[in-house]
Amino acid sequence: MAIERTFSIIKPDAVAKNVIGEIYSRFEKNDLKIVAAKMLHLTKEQAEGFYAEHSERGFFNDLVAFMISGPVIMQVLEGENAVLKHREIMGATNPKEAAAGTIRADFASSIDENAVHGSDAVETAQREIAYFFSDNEICARTR
Ligand code: TYD
Ligand code: MG
Repeated sequence: MAIERTFSIIKPDAVAKNVIGEIYSRFEKNDLKIVAAKMLHLTKEQAEGFYAEHSERGFFNDLVAFMISGPVIMQVLEGENAVLKHREIMGATNPKEAAAGTIRADFASSIDENAVHGSDAVETAQREIAYFFSDNEICARTR
């Protein structure tokens, strides 16, 4: 299986709940390696640009307001089949529909405050990684 990279955000609700380590632990238990990470408080422009594909949706303004309501931690995860694997351990967008034991089932309270973001495809991951990280901020983990 191919080694892929995916893009992950621990959203403001999960940072506020102080479960960053719990979520990192799930990445590690699933053989996803963190190859880049940063904490920041997104600007409105950054959040709008990141979620531009949803700009026509009714939830867009609330989504942007939520994403800038506090700091986030974002990371690049690397591993076999990383994009799909990460989506699986996140769980469904709506935590009420997320499988037991997934991050959203355990830490998210609602569809609009759902703890984590994960890329939905390899091409999306490439675009999302480049939106927040330059190449020299991504580390090789060869040992
Ligand atoms: P989406 O890309 O559909 O979900 P995912 O994060 O699982 O890839 O939507 C992006 C975010 O928009 C989602 O995480 C939470 C928010 N959202 C809502 O607030 N209400 C909704 O009905 C949907 C579909 C998404
Ligand atoms: Mg999505």
